[in-house]
Amino acid sequence: MTKDKIMITGSTSGVAIELASHLKKYNVIKVSRSQIDVIKNFCKYENFIIKNKPKIIINCIAANGIDYCENNPQEAFKINTAFPVFLAKISQRIGAKLIHFSTAAVFSGKKFKKLYNENSIANPNTIYGLSKYFADEFLSCYTNILILRVPMLYGPTHKKQLISRLLLKIMKNHKIYASSDVYSTPLYIPELAKIIVGIIKNKKKFFSKKSAEIINVSSKNYISIYQLVRKYAIYLKKTGNLVDVKNKYFSNALIKPKYLGLKSKKKYTSQMLINDCVKDHLEKINK
Ligand SMILES: NC(=O)c1ccc[n+]([C@@H]2O[C@H](COP(=O)([O-])OP(=O)(O)OC[C@H]3O[C@@H](n4cnc5c(N)ncnc54)[C@H](OP(=O)(O)O)[C@@H]3O)[C@@H](O)[C@H]2O)c1
Repeated sequence: MTKDKIMITGSTSGVAIELASHLKKYNVIKVSRSQIDVIKNFCKYENFIIKNKPKIIINCIAANGIDYCENNPQEAFKINTAFPVFLAKISQRIGAKLIHFSTAAVFSGKKFKKLYNENSIANPNTIYGLSKYFADEFLSCYTNILILRVPMLYGPTHKKQLISRLLLKIMKNHKIYASSDVYSTPLYIPELAKIIVGIIKNKKKFFSKKSAEIINVSSKNYISIYQLVRKYAIYLKKTGNLVDVKNKYFSNALIKPKYLGLKSKKKYTSQMLINDCVKDHLEKINK
């Protein structure tokens, strides 16, 4: 076992579960909401972190989902902005490095085929995007922080997120509606986990003593939600219940950014073919 103690906050998140399975050689401390609820108690986290003194903290806690954040703005800003800033302060105090996740939703997503890089100007138009953007801004004042900005994620460890929910419906032969005009460069979570393991192994290269750094991690596939879900349906031979609709079919269409593709100037792009990701995902959930 290597010496580095790694704390993963939000250990029930899709990213955290996948990541933990890639970090078996490390001393990983997982913290879930059932142990400490961020909404109720920051101080408990402070005591827990100081007691455990991790070398690296990976923050997977988030108030995800556009609708949830629009309806619960106080919680969104507390979880997505205040908590990461609080973690940055403690990390700095104990000399730990912090990995945090940002989102493509910090961009307006109004232009078809536009891919946002690390230098693109953020212009969020949802509470979710704004709450994540504020964290990016405030964290930039701290050192030894790496912000990984990711597009829509999908993978076998995700249970509550969009692609997994749609996949479950396909498997149950339910009729499903997916947007053919909402695009992303979706990233397969096991690929993200591999990139993070590489970062942990090469800490010195990634963490700056000057300021926080943002890296976009994405795939190279610019694809609509419908096109991605259809790939699953084809593998499962269940395309019959899949209906392509325009974004305006959904209730949050007015605010939802439609074109949120990312690219990386720093070359952190998953090379795994999308059909292989879909196949791997289905194999893993059928095991
Ligand atoms: N999912 C995506 O498509 C996507 C896209 C772009 C960026 N990201 C970012 O990537 C990171 C990881 O996302 P993910 O999809 O893996 O997240 P996720 O599966 O939605 O999990 C979110 C985590 O936050 C925890 N949490 C929420 N409220 C909490 C609270 N009050 N106290 C303590 N814990 C709380 C949840 O606990 P419970 O399980 O108990 O609810 C869960 O562990 C996040 O920063 C997210 O914003 C995700």
